[in-house]
Amino acid sequence: MSGNSLGKLFRVTNWGESHGKAIGVVVDGCPSLLELSEKDIQKELDRRIPGQSKITTQRKEKDKVEILSGIFNGKTTGTPISMIIYNKDFRKEDYKKLTKALRSSHADFTYEKKYGIRNPYGGGRSSARLTAGNVAAGAIAKKILKEKLNTEIIAYTKRIKDIEAVVDTGKVKEKYVEASIVRCPDHKKSEEMEALVEETAKKGDSVGGIIECVARNIPPGLGEPIFDKLDADLAKAMMDINAVKGFEIGSGFSAAGMYGTAHNDPFIMEAGKIRTKTNNSGGVQGGISNGMPIILRVAFKPTATIQKQKAIDMKGNDIKLGAGRHDPCVVPRAVPIVEAMAALVLCDHYLRFKALGGKDGN
Ligand SMILES: Cc1cc2nc3c(=O)[nH]c(=O)nc-3n(C[C@H](O)[C@H](O)[C@H](O)COP(=O)(O)O)c2cc1C
Repeated sequence: MSGNSLGKLFRVTNWGESHGKAIGVVVDGCPSLLELSEKDIQKELDRRIPGQSKITTQRKEKDKVEILSGIFNGKTTGTPISMIIYNKDFRKEDYKKLTKALRSSHADFTYEKKYGIRNPYGGGRSSARLTAGNVAAGAIAKKILKEKLNTEIIAYTKRIKDIEAVVDTGKVKEKYVEASIVRCPDHKKSEEMEALVEETAKKGDSVGGIIECVARNIPPGLGEPIFDKLDADLAKAMMDINAVKGFEIGSGFSAAGMYGTAHNDPFIMEAGKIRTKTNNSGGVQGGISNGMPIILRVAFKPTATIQKQKAIDMKGNDIKLGAGRHDPCVVPRAVPIVEAMAALVLCDHYLRFKALGGKDGN
C-alpha cells in the first residue's frame, strides 16, 4: 500500500533515511535451509559503496551489514531476515541550507507536497543510499537463484553519454566488469568513459548513461500474466531505482523501426531443447520467460547535483547552493543495484513458479 515493499512470495521491505541512524531491509519469504552469512551480503554491498574510486562520491560509508534475525547455525530459518546498516559519515551542517531548498530535478518538492514533512538531510528517504538495503536483499535472491538454477545475473555500463560499448551478452563475465572503474567490460570504451566522467566532474557537470543486464539460466515459465508479467515486473523494479528514466527489454525501442521478418525470433531444436535462433524478445514472450537469456537496458539521467545547482524555497526565493559530495555519473555505482533489482524480481517469480507446480530445468 505505502510503496515500501516489493515482491509477493519473496517480499522485501525497505526502511530508513540517508542521514538517519541506520537504513535496512526485511526479507520475508526466503526459503529455509539456505546457507547464508553476512559475508554473502557484504560482497555485493562493497560494489555499491560510495568512495570506491576516484570517479564516485567521496562520502565515506563502509556499509557494514548486520543480520539481526532469520538465521540459525548459518542457515536461513524461513522467518523474516532483518538486515541493518548504520549510517556513519553524515554531516548535517553540510545540509543546513538544504532543509528549505527545492533543488532542481531532486525529489524535494514532490516529497514536501505529498507528505507535508520530510527529512531533508542528504535527500532523506529519496536518497539513492536507500538502494543499499535492496542490494543486501538482492544478494540473498542471487544466492537462491544460483543454487537452484545456476543463474548468473551480470550488469555493466553499456553507455555513458554518447560513448557506447560493444559487449557480447553471451560471454560477458563479472570479472571483466569489475576490472573497470566505470564497470564497462569493453576495455577501450571503458578508458574513454573514464576520461569523460573525470572531465565532466572537473567542469562541475554530470552525465547520464545506460546499464545493460543479462540473466542467464532462467527456465521457461517465470511470469504471471496478465498484470504480473515478468517484463512488466522487471520494468517496475528498474524504474524504482533512483535517477532511472527509461527501460527496455530485448530489441526495446529499436523494435519500432524494424520489419517483422528481421524481428521475429524463430524457434529451433538444439541438443534436445527448444530455443530461439535470435533473441529480440529479450527472453520474455507473453510476459513469461522462454528460457533464453533475459536482456534488459536501463537509462539513467545525469546526476541532478551539479556545481551550479539552482534552487528556490517554498516562497519562491532563490537559494544559493554548493554541489556537496556527489557522483558525477551514477551509472557505475548503479550496476550492482540493477543486478539486485533483477535478482529480486526473478527470485520472486521463481518461487511463484514453484508454488504453481513449475519444475526446475524445464
Ligand atoms: C547510485 C546512485 C547514486 C546517486 N547519487 C546522487 C547524487 O550524488 N546526487 C544526486 O543529485 N542524485 C543522485 N542520485 C539520483 C537521485 O537519488 C535521484 O535523482 C533523486 O532522488 C530524484 O529521483 P528521480 O531522479 O528518480 O526522479 C543517485 C542515484 C543512484 C542510482
